[in-house]
Amino acid sequence: APDIDVAKVRAHLSQFQTIATNNGGNRRSTGQGYRDSVAYVKGKLQAAGYTVTEQPCTSGCSSGAGPNLIAEWPGGNASNVYMFGAHLDGVSAGPGINDNGSGSAALLETALTLAAQNPTMTNKVRFGWWTDEEQGLNGSDFYVRSLSSAQRSAIKAYYNFDMIASTNGGYFINHITSSAAAPMKEYWDSLNLQPEENREGAGRSDDYSFEQYSIPTSGYAMGASARKTSAQQAKWGGTANAAYDGCYHSSCDTTSNINATGLDRSVDGIAHTLWKVAVSGGAPTT
Ligand code: PHE
Ligand code: CA
Ligand code: ZN
Ligand code: ZN
Ligand code: ZN
Repeated sequence: APDIDVAKVRAHLSQFQTIATNNGGNRRSTGQGYRDSVAYVKGKLQAAGYTVTEQPCTSGCSSGAGPNLIAEWPGGNASNVYMFGAHLDGVSAGPGINDNGSGSAALLETALTLAAQNPTMTNKVRFGWWTDEEQGLNGSDFYVRSLSSAQRSAIKAYYNFDMIASTNGGYFINHITSSAAAPMKEYWDSLNLQPEENREGAGRSDDYSFEQYSIPTSGYAMGASARKTSAQQAKWGGTANAAYDGCYHSSCDTTSNINATGLDRSVDGIAHTLWKVAVSGGAPTT
């Protein structure tokens, strides 16, 4: 799999920051900051050759919420769909750069790298950027409910990325012992990161929408407002008894609130996983 350039991921984060600054300081689902975020991601994907769909959330979302954004890469077996998703909305309090510019930008750069490399696909890859997560996982719930049972059973795994660059973070994997998690864990194990189960995030992000329909799920996270333990500080560094992200849902969740090392390890593991599940020849470095 390719080594994703974290500088390019950070450049997308700078764009999200600018979008927030220009729209009252946030990217909440009902505001122009969200709609501008959708337009930014959509424009990059279309320029790279993706088929991109805006899906209006017509039930269960906040009134006036912007759409989900869905992008599929051509090729691969459409009976075996692997989905990678992140919420693109933020809270009203701040620009939402770790939560969840980080997951959104990492997926965008992974998608652009896939397009640039244009490898032979075995399975189908689909990306989702969700609306209105912060008000109750609403965009992803609407998406899964909008699928037919055949479309749902074609999704062999859904991988979620919510807060993957927390400044005092840890290395957390959703459903870490599951088959779906195996390629995600394999990559972080290769870096000797000693990942742990994402207990803090269980049921609290968009993977839960898929889990409710028995679709296998996994993903990476670096943590929110819970505090790092002494044992975690011993293996990962950082500050014990402090929040993984001290700017969670705050005005200080800016481009300064990014752990570039963690972001790089996350985005490279996303690429490792995508290549392993859906690209001919799998994960060896290209
Ligand atoms: N889903 C939460 C949010 O967007 C973030 C979160 C992730 C909280 C993981 C806890 C654990 O605010
Ligand atoms: Ca990298
Ligand atoms: Zn949040
Ligand atoms: Zn979040
Ligand atoms: Zn679960």
